[in-house]
Amino acid sequence: MLPIHKYQEQFLQYLENQKIDKEPKNLYQPIDYILQLGGKRMRPVLTLLTADIFEVDYKKALPAAMAVEVFHNFSLVHDDIMDDAPLRRGQATVHEKWNINTGILSGDAMLILAYQYFENYEPKIFRKLAKLFSKTALEVCEGQQYDVDFETRNDVTIPEYLKMIEYKTAVLVAAAMKMGAIIAQTSKENSRLIYDFGLNLGLAFQLQDDYLDAFGDPETFGKQVGGDIIENKKTYLYLKAIEFSNPTQKEQLTQLFSTKQDNNSDKITAVKEIFNTTGGSKATQKAIEDYTLKAFETLEKMSISQDKKVILKTFGENLMERKQ
Ligand code: IPE
Ligand code: IPE
Ligand code: MG
Ligand code: MG
Ligand code: MG
Repeated sequence: MLPIHKYQEQFLQYLENQKIDKEPKNLYQPIDYILQLGGKRMRPVLTLLTADIFEVDYKKALPAAMAVEVFHNFSLVHDDIMDDAPLRRGQATVHEKWNINTGILSGDAMLILAYQYFENYEPKIFRKLAKLFSKTALEVCEGQQYDVDFETRNDVTIPEYLKMIEYKTAVLVAAAMKMGAIIAQTSKENSRLIYDFGLNLGLAFQLQDDYLDAFGDPETFGKQVGGDIIENKKTYLYLKAIEFSNPTQKEQLTQLFSTKQDNNSDKITAVKEIFNTTGGSKATQKAIEDYTLKAFETLEKMSISQDKKVILKTFGENLMERKQ
């Protein structure tokens, strides 16, 4: 096993060696741009780490880790178009720097490029990886559609929200880990448990993303703070604030989320105030912790050594502390 930052370094080195910037420039430059923009590289690190945990050389998992990261970045390019987001990782989003059509086609190419990385595996493993990837990618699309549908609905429930974030975010974190397990050819039970661990960690991760979107520090967050509020996203913060609000607050919040307006800074200030006073913010922080703990419970059932469990637990704890 390596320390976490070493997996990240190894992944970055592999990424560096990919020759992505080809002709036509207007197709490949945006792909190169988004992939080089940085980011936490959480999903590929999880793929490499999981391969090592189930005792295969992590190097064998590099193409799958790359597939996961390319797919993730594809989903961000299209997500930023859908969310009308100006900033990503502290820089202009692809559709802002180029245009929407470029974002669409470069994104499409990335989805195919991601799939191609599985061709590095022998048929038996290829089949399992491709099957998991296709299922996951479709679920991400479903989650993204729910996310957009919810913008214009005012009767979204917590279970509906949880299903939405499970699909748009958690399944990819889970699949990233399961791919490591598939490559290591570990037991079915271990594969199932590591998927379950990743799923709960992924739910905590998206809840935290929602929290940071409202309360993150613009210096470290890398995205437009308040973007979800501008777009009327029905986040956990919003749903819990509605649940806990008095009739006046409820009316105010519903009103603020009924249209997209010009003066967003007033809207953001007013909404954050209600998130805090109603206890929506506290409830979200509690949910982040609960899902992280739920992930840790799964770990206990897994037949791996104690020191490996500690590595995964530390990874989860560090995620809760993140600022970006
Ligand atoms: C952003 O993912 C999209 C979500 C699912 C919340 P990350 O927060 O992992 O983005 P990067 O790759 O580190 O920029
Ligand atoms: C994005 O959710 C999930 C996917 C990209 C599939 P968000 O819209 O919350 O992600 P960010 O906040 O823009 O990174
Ligand atoms: Mg977004
Ligand atoms: Mg989105
Ligand atoms: Mg977000």
